[in-house]
Amino acid sequence: MFGRVQIIFDQTQLRYGEHSALAPLTLSLSEPRIGVIGLNGSGKTSFARLINGLAKPTSGTVTLDGLDTVKDERAVMAKAGFIFQNPANQIILPIIRDDIAMGPKSRGLKGPALEAAVDSVLDRFGIAHLADRRPHELSGGELQLAALAAVVVTEPGVILFDEPTNQLDLKNRAMVKAAIEGLAQHAIVITHDLDLIRDYPRVLVFHEGALAFDGAGTEAVTHYVEIVGA
Ligand SMILES: Nc1ncnc2c1ncn2[C@@H]1O[C@H](COP(=O)(O)OP(=O)(O)OP(=O)(O)O)[C@@H](O)[C@H]1O
Ligand SMILES: [Mg+2]
Repeated sequence: MFGRVQIIFDQTQLRYGEHSALAPLTLSLSEPRIGVIGLNGSGKTSFARLINGLAKPTSGTVTLDGLDTVKDERAVMAKAGFIFQNPANQIILPIIRDDIAMGPKSRGLKGPALEAAVDSVLDRFGIAHLADRRPHELSGGELQLAALAAVVVTEPGVILFDEPTNQLDLKNRAMVKAAIEGLAQHAIVITHDLDLIRDYPRVLVFHEGALAFDGAGTEAVTHYVEIVGA
C-alpha cells in the first residue's frame, strides 16, 4: 500500500542564533507511520520543518529519497506535504474547493480532470458538502480535513502533521485519527494526544532539542512520562 520513502538526518543541527533547537541528529526514517512527542519547545515542529525544507539545517543534511532539502528544495516540498498546527493558515483561497484545486492546477491539471480530482478528494474525506464554504465557516475538525484534502490531492509521498487533533472534541479527534490511518501516504504525526500514536511501531521523543527516545509507541509514552516526572 505504501510507497517507499526514506528520510535521512545526517549530523543535522538547527540553531536559532545562540539557541539550539535541534542537537546534532543522525537518523533514518522509513516506517509508514511515525509519531513525534515531547514537551512544548522540545523541538518537534523544528524537526518536521527540517524534513520538508521549511527549515534549513545549520549544519549537516536532511535528505528525502536522496533529495537534499537545501539543494533540491522544490522537489522535496512536492514530496513532503505539511499540515500546520493551525490549518486555517494554509487555506489561502477564499473558497475551500478553489483552495483544494490550486495544487493540481499549478501542476497542469484543468477542466473535467481537475474537477474530478477535487471531487474525489472531497468525497474521500467526507467534506463535499463544505466545498463552497469559506474557511472561517468550518469547525476545527473540518478545517483539518480540508487542509488534508488540499495536501493529498497533490499526491505527496509523506505528510507531516503538526498537532492535528489539537483543540478537537472527541468526535473530530476520531475523525482525524481515522483519516490519517486511511492514508496511502507515509505520515509523521507530531502530537500531545498520546492516544493518537500509542499504537505506532515507531515514536520519537524529543526533549530539550535532542532525540531522547526512539522506539515503539507504548515504550515511547512510558519514557515521555518518566522524563516529565508526571
Ligand atoms: N523561528 C524561530 N526563531 C527562534 N527560535 C525559535 C524559532 N522557532 C522555534 N524556536 C525555538 O526553538 C525551540 C523548539 O521549538 P519548536 O517549535 O520546534 O518546539 P515544539 O516541540 O514544536 O513545541 P510545541 O509543542 O510548543 O509546539 C523553542 O525553544 C523555540 O522557542
Ligand atoms: Mg510545535
